[in-house]
Amino acid sequence: MVPTPHATLAPLLARHAGRAHELLPLLHALQDSEGYVDPAHVPGIAAALNLSRAEVHGVITFYHHFRSAPPPPTVVQVCRAEACRSRDGEALVAHVEAATGAHIDGEPCQGIGVESVYCLGQCALSPAVTINGELHARVSPARFDALLAAAREEVAHD
Ligand code: FES
Repeated sequence: MVPTPHATLAPLLARHAGRAHELLPLLHALQDSEGYVDPAHVPGIAAALNLSRAEVHGVITFYHHFRSAPPPPTVVQVCRAEACRSRDGEALVAHVEAATGAHIDGEPCQGIGVESVYCLGQCALSPAVTINGELHARVSPARFDALLAAAREEVAHD
């Protein structure tokens, strides 16, 4: 069962109360739990950590990692950092966009969102992607198609 936002948020606020320097861990934990950081939580987070709403909002919007809306059912992240670029990573980006119909870092298409990431720690095995959080290295266009099909199948059966 997916926890309600307040069921998740309350213990996090209690754990990090008064510790402004723990904003990032709180935001990571919230997103890990709920899939995104609901903007409605900003006032409560700010009050609990003795920060302004603008400060909390600024951190959420500064880091590309944080979502302010629920993610689509399938999320593809394609590494665009140097090692992956040097091994046809941008050609893989073009293939992923063509295969999904979604523009990278744009709106999802048919339940698939495609996002840029900058290094997944698999530089020696580039290019690398994640699909719904699962890491894959040495991804060719053909392998991507197979991985995406498997991930979509899994989503359909959840
Ligand atoms: S540069 Fe792509 S995994 Fe490191």
